[in-house]
Amino acid sequence: MGDLVPAPWGGYLVTGYDACNQVLRGRAWLVPDFAWQDRQADTGRWQAVATQEMSRTLSRLNAPDHTRQRHSLGNLFDRQTLEAVAPAVEADVAGLLDRLAERIREDGEADLATVVSERLPINTVGRWLDIAPDDYDHILEMTHNQVYAQELLPTKSQLATSEAATVQLRRYFTDLVRERRENPGDDVVSGWIRTWDALESDRASTDRIVYQLTMFVTIASLETTATLMSSLVWSLLRSPGRWDWLRERPEHIDDAINEALRYDPPIRLNSRVAAEDTVLSGVFVPKDTMVHVMYGAAAHDPRRNPAPHTFDILRKGSHIAFGGGAHYCLGAGLARLEARTLLGQLLRRFPTLRAISPPEYASRMVFHRVTSLRVAA
Ligand code: HEM
Repeated sequence: MGDLVPAPWGGYLVTGYDACNQVLRGRAWLVPDFAWQDRQADTGRWQAVATQEMSRTLSRLNAPDHTRQRHSLGNLFDRQTLEAVAPAVEADVAGLLDRLAERIREDGEADLATVVSERLPINTVGRWLDIAPDDYDHILEMTHNQVYAQELLPTKSQLATSEAATVQLRRYFTDLVRERRENPGDDVVSGWIRTWDALESDRASTDRIVYQLTMFVTIASLETTATLMSSLVWSLLRSPGRWDWLRERPEHIDDAINEALRYDPPIRLNSRVAAEDTVLSGVFVPKDTMVHVMYGAAAHDPRRNPAPHTFDILRKGSHIAFGGGAHYCLGAGLARLEARTLLGQLLRRFPTLRAISPPEYASRMVFHRVTSLRVAA
């Protein structure tokens, strides 16, 4: 249908790989921040509590605020940090797979999505941020409900669900930051408080920024990584022989992860707005027009990835599942580490793993979520 397809609600869907990349990396494009939202007629959507709260987070900031916050975080998961967290991830995966094995032994089957994929990211980020394990279920529930505000065209009831979750998230993470300020340690959040105390003139603005960072990094890390892992396993199990092929060639685990990210990206689209009148793929796009970068469509662009609908572990394909440009995902290294650790152990411990039925998905457009993947061995 073309690189740029008019969306029925206004703006454009951007489907071509090069056009998507141009939007993510080009100077003519911004994220839809408060200044842009204030110029929109649809106040119900943009003034909603959940939307407003997310608009204060990293992913919805433009320069200079975005640059400042990104700079303060640095490279969150550099090689040293990944090496430091790897042993705990390895041990955690072993424990989760013990539980999976036990369920399969007792019931003949188990749900990989809930028993393993959803648990590993919250355990990992929770440990990294030093969050109490008793709170993990609550955080997961709030996250699942919050994302609706970031859907393409959320309904009123979805916005209400999202608002309730947003209020809870705000309370939870504000309390967490307050508690770290009172009892500072050598944990990540205490470190962010120290960094921002040196940058801001008052403690209240430090605490607000650290709350927004902590909340956003947590929720950005959960469903995305869980969905990658479930989709990855499903892509390997759905076609006869693929599991065995990879079991015999574990050196291609990273290639399989990359192909799963390309084939079925956990985030389906992301929106940007034109900072000025511009031309994209030969189409004139006036200032303030919103465009939706379709990550999945881009990765299935046959000009970039020939035979795009074939899952081919060895293709070394291109994708933009972690975005691109100034907002490139800060957790890509951690997500890959979790997926690699899980798949490595799964292949070794469950040589005869099979899917009982295809995955079930939450009814969403933007944040793809696997709610269930029943497996047996
Ligand atoms: C498979 C898992 C993941 C996927 C597919 C994913 C995908 C993305 C995408 C598409 C973006 C937006 C990029 C853009 O706007 O151009 C993003 C941003 C971000 N991600 Fe991830 N992500 C994943 C895991 C994680 C993890 C594990 C963390 C943290 C522990 C994380 C933290 C972030 C942050 C902080 C941003 C905002 C960056 C910014 O706006 O400057 N993500 N991610």
